[in-house]
Amino acid sequence: MAGGGIPVDGQVNAFSGRITASVVITCIVAASGGLLFGYDIGISGGVTTMAPFLQKFFPSILRKAARAKTNVYCVYDSQTLTSFTSSLYIAGLAASIVAGRLTAALGRRNIMVLGGSIFFAGAAINGGAENVAMLILGRILLGLGVGFTNQATPVYLSEMAPPKWRGAFSTGFQFFIGIGVVTANCVNYGTSRLSWGWRLSLGLAIVPAAIMTLGALSITDTPSSLVERGKLSLAKKSLTKVRGIDTDVEPELADLVKSSEIAKAINKEAFVTIFERQYRPHLVMSIAIPFFQQLTGINIIAFYAPVLFQSVGFGSDSALIAAIILGVVNLGSIVVSTFVVDRYGRRFLFIEGGAQMFICQVAVACVLAAATGTSGTKHISKGDAAVVLTLMCIYAAGFGWSWGPLSWLIPSEIFPMKIRTAGQSISVAVNFGTTFVLSQTFLTMLCHFKYGAFLFYAAWIAAMTVFVVLFVPETKGIPMNSMYVVWEEHWFWRRYVKPQP
Ligand code: BGC
Repeated sequence: MAGGGIPVDGQVNAFSGRITASVVITCIVAASGGLLFGYDIGISGGVTTMAPFLQKFFPSILRKAARAKTNVYCVYDSQTLTSFTSSLYIAGLAASIVAGRLTAALGRRNIMVLGGSIFFAGAAINGGAENVAMLILGRILLGLGVGFTNQATPVYLSEMAPPKWRGAFSTGFQFFIGIGVVTANCVNYGTSRLSWGWRLSLGLAIVPAAIMTLGALSITDTPSSLVERGKLSLAKKSLTKVRGIDTDVEPELADLVKSSEIAKAINKEAFVTIFERQYRPHLVMSIAIPFFQQLTGINIIAFYAPVLFQSVGFGSDSALIAAIILGVVNLGSIVVSTFVVDRYGRRFLFIEGGAQMFICQVAVACVLAAATGTSGTKHISKGDAAVVLTLMCIYAAGFGWSWGPLSWLIPSEIFPMKIRTAGQSISVAVNFGTTFVLSQTFLTMLCHFKYGAFLFYAAWIAAMTVFVVLFVPETKGIPMNSMYVVWEEHWFWRRYVKPQP
């Protein structure tokens, strides 16, 4: 390998950094960016099962539900209803495409503030919506907001964290997504009895938006971003603050300046550079990781948990409770990930989580097949419904400690500075694009494939686990500026990368 000493497990670079109170607080504030995304994911599924909401905006679904005694899988199959959920993802996709350039030019923190403010406006419009147009406009603003925050927050966390604990710090983003989901599920449960409950559910999204926006205003930008934008003295101040005043930050600063000079010397658009052959592994990961994350089927569970449980025979209250249970299990497993990710590594979690999710999806398909009959006309018993819920909980735990947090962590940590924001942009865009297609098609798929929908996801989980085994290198503990080593040493990717100076 070129460039002398191999950085292993954070032993390289004296400036690897330690955990200070300041870095912890800063990263908690930044990670709260996940709240916006999570609240939205959790709120839409529940709101779309509320009768007053459907009555006002999508009355045809209620008429269909009243008639549909035939096939339990098809009641909620409506393109208009799914477009309510998925319009956010199209807007997020659009925002994430410009967000890369903006995050490089204006800094990670400022983009978090911008994203939070736009999300706030979207929440307010949704809460006051009088017609479908207002509803969709609100969703578009929410989407633009998360397009920005999902771009900037993971990069912020990875750049701010001490390398040795980068995994744990970055998991904070997924943790807040999880808190957002559970909060939203509880809010839905509380408001579902009110005729205007849906307004409260949608409007309360202003709370996470305000928390994150005000929080972001109080933190400094990352040293990398400040160096990238030529603000050296601010970068030094920021580094001293997060690494501790008694730490000599000069070597770390010098390293960042060197990376930034290399980036500037290339003087090419990051979006062009990333397509060069030497960045093929990075490009593949920025596309494959978020794509596969969505093909675990998590959002089908996350958005449609209440709808899904109702479809398979839970009452509407118990469907909302089931969604809360799932969310809490998911949250717990993210905490487990925080403790494991920097110790046993990313690959271990990917592989274990993949195996667990695969088994659960296959088992859910078998139970549903047996319980509802091949035509889907039999309503499932309480016992079978409980088995489905348990399996889904085990599945959600598997996701919570693997593809959940790791899909945000890997793209935020593998890129060299010159293509980092471009890489993250691609990754967020792929995440939103895939979520859009899957959420738009799932209820139709459920209607036609019935329990087979779960086998579809099981097959993808098997494929992605093989992909991890063969192509995803271990990145735990490696400082971001030395990340080239993992590709230089990889049996497949080494033929692409150029030796580093
Ligand atoms: C995914 C989302 C998903 C959420 C569930 C995130 O990492 O990107 O699509 O809804 O996890 O908690």
